[in-house]
Amino acid sequence: MSRLVYVLNGPNLNLLGKRQPHIYGHTTLADVEAECRALASELKLELRFHQSNREYEIIDWVHEARETAGGIVINPAAFTHTSVAVLDALNAFDGPVFEVHISNVHKREAFRHHSYVSLRADGVIAGFGTQGYSLALRRLATLIDEK
Ligand code: DQA
Repeated sequence: MSRLVYVLNGPNLNLLGKRQPHIYGHTTLADVEAECRALASELKLELRFHQSNREYEIIDWVHEARETAGGIVINPAAFTHTSVAVLDALNAFDGPVFEVHISNVHKREAFRHHSYVSLRADGVIAGFGTQGYSLALRRLATLIDEK
């Protein structure tokens, strides 16, 4: 299995650390990327890390991953709750997919309790702050190592 993994981030996560810090904390997306890169090198994974506010870009990265990657970690942000298109793209990807939410979406508004992406995800992490990304990457590495 390929040791290339994609970490994909949906809309507004470019503002991480600045928007609603009481919910999402003070860590920026650049900090998250740096942590993921350090961990990926420890786990001997190759990493592609992306963020977009545009649904089609997330879909295009999933298609790209389809050709090359061993797994995907995705925080689809608001697209989690709205996007059949992101779900369809992930359904066309064969490897493991882990869904990450920084906040505990189940403790929040009812519209955040439903996730289209969870219909495809092999695991979901919510409410572990930005540490959730590292946990998901470790699980992905374990699965890739087992193959
Ligand atoms: C989020 C939770 C979503 O409901 C929200 O739209 C986000 C971020 C999280 O990481 O907690 O933008 O995915």
